[in-house]
Amino acid sequence: MSEPRLVRNPLVSKESVRTLVDGSRDFHRSMPAYRPTPLAALPAAAARLGVGSVFAKDESSRMGMPSFKILGASWACYRTLLAHLGRPVDSAISLDELKAELAVGPGLRLVSATDGNHGRAVARMAALLGLSAHILVPEDMVPARIDAITGEGAEVEIVAGGYDDAIRRSAELAADDALVISDTSWEGYTEPPSWVIDGYSTMITEILDEIAAGTVPPPTVVAAQIGVGAFAAAVARGFSGRPAVRLVGVEPTDADCVTASVEAGGITTIPGPQRSIMAGLNCGTPSVIAWPDVSAGYDTFVTVTDAAAEEAMRLMYTDGLVSGESGAAGLAGITTHAAELGLGPDDHILVISTEGATDVANFDRITGARLAG
Ligand SMILES: Cc1ncc(COP(=O)(O)O)c(C=O)c1O
Repeated sequence: MSEPRLVRNPLVSKESVRTLVDGSRDFHRSMPAYRPTPLAALPAAAARLGVGSVFAKDESSRMGMPSFKILGASWACYRTLLAHLGRPVDSAISLDELKAELAVGPGLRLVSATDGNHGRAVARMAALLGLSAHILVPEDMVPARIDAITGEGAEVEIVAGGYDDAIRRSAELAADDALVISDTSWEGYTEPPSWVIDGYSTMITEILDEIAAGTVPPPTVVAAQIGVGAFAAAVARGFSGRPAVRLVGVEPTDADCVTASVEAGGITTIPGPQRSIMAGLNCGTPSVIAWPDVSAGYDTFVTVTDAAAEEAMRLMYTDGLVSGESGAAGLAGITTHAAELGLGPDDHILVISTEGATDVANFDRITGARLAG
């Protein structure tokens, strides 16, 4: 495993980052379990770092799921199905109406590759809409995450290799009756993943609303963990217009496809499969549609070890926050590189804990908690 590193981004060009597309918020509000997630103060982390404050957006419970990913998956499924039916997006039909309309047509399958959370969210949407789901996962996915996907009623196919191999297999399955809902994009396949990024804007808008209301201090540093970069693109769109904010992108040391791409000056695939415990970040190739905003929006990219992610999970849990391996990666990036980032008492750090304990046994082992009972 390579050493953690910090790369100052030579491609930064914040004025070229797109602004948030906020079209998904009314749709999310119409979903039964929608409510904004909390922003939690992390005083132990602030004391450890010697900064003014650390706040974490807590995505451990988002519309009944343990990660933020349902925001992107739900909006992408909705938009894809409207497009499939030839309905304009402003028709604003409810999920129940959509389900009724789909029930009278030929049976459809939603197909998605995942390293955990996105596929589970697509499976949930398929179940809500009365459709079947076929979810492709890398061969090293832990049983807890596979069980969570089958628990949504989906068929799970284990693909030899890593996340990139599962993505390739999902693309092969595309058919008139099999709609691929991917959170990453590639040449010729860009629309659903662009809706995934748009769907994440609901979470970013919630954060911006709290900053505007003064319930949290305006951040000076925002850290976003990166798999293919869709989430980081949404964060960039929300924050790159704020000159006082430094944006830090965080990747596992051995799943550093965006950092490697920045160093190479363009999209690069790193050798795989990636095996970090930060399962949601185990990606070998940046998403082509996320790349423009990610490469232009971040001041700095850093990489972190699995041990640093575990340490960040423990630090967050000290303040009562349940954050999984990928969820804690943003804070791990800040704690690992605090000295080089030159943080001080005037800094206010915002991290996004993008998942809760998606592998409960591992969470308990790492933190000493007893969530499994
Ligand atoms: C919990 C969690 N955080 C962050 C990410 C990274 O998102 P992206 O792949 O859009 O970079 C993922 C992706 O699966 C995830 O599951």
